[in-house]
Amino acid sequence: MTKLLVVATGNPGKLREMQAYLANSGWELTLKPDELEIEETGDTFAANACLKASQIAQATGNWAIADDSGLQVDALNGAPGVYSARYGKTDSERIARVLNELGPEVNRQAQFVCVVAIASPDGKIVLQTEGICRGTILHAPRGNGGFGYDPIFYIPEKQLTFAEMTPQLKRSLSHRGKAFTALIPQLEVLSFEL
Ligand code: IMP
Repeated sequence: MTKLLVVATGNPGKLREMQAYLANSGWELTLKPDELEIEETGDTFAANACLKASQIAQATGNWAIADDSGLQVDALNGAPGVYSARYGKTDSERIARVLNELGPEVNRQAQFVCVVAIASPDGKIVLQTEGICRGTILHAPRGNGGFGYDPIFYIPEKQLTFAEMTPQLKRSLSHRGKAFTALIPQLEVLSFEL
């Protein structure tokens, strides 16, 4: 039997991405109702993913999935972190702010983090996984693909920024890809138990 999983986002792009990761999982993914707005008030990615999944599950009476992600720059003490989406008005403003704050700093180590959480219809968090992708921050953007901070996030082993990679290569290395890869076997066990 197909089970319904409400995605705690209003963003159809995120729904499509999660559908691609969870194809053949036996769960049918659907967008949350527009009128349900959840504020990301947590101070960690895990707290935000859990509060979104839990509140959407309780409000809809269905199973719910949420993710929260962002960029952490070592020399900026982990900023922009949970404020990644709110670090400026546009992607280019957010990138400019990170580059400006980092200035000529030599330590350009950074990571993308993604936490995915699944809540049962009573709001209890039953699954939570995390994916981390380490890289470095370039001095200027490179590449036209992807979104967000992709043009300044460089993977030395591939000699490419996320914005220069094919979507498949980015998915195989990315924080989100890793979080979902860890989630899938656990979701299969959960489906089996239901
Ligand atoms: P979320 O939708 O609350 O998870 O916001 C995450 C924010 O972090 C996005 O708006 C981006 O600014 C940034 N971010 C997360 N994942 C990525 C990525 O894969 N590439 C570039 N930026 C990302």
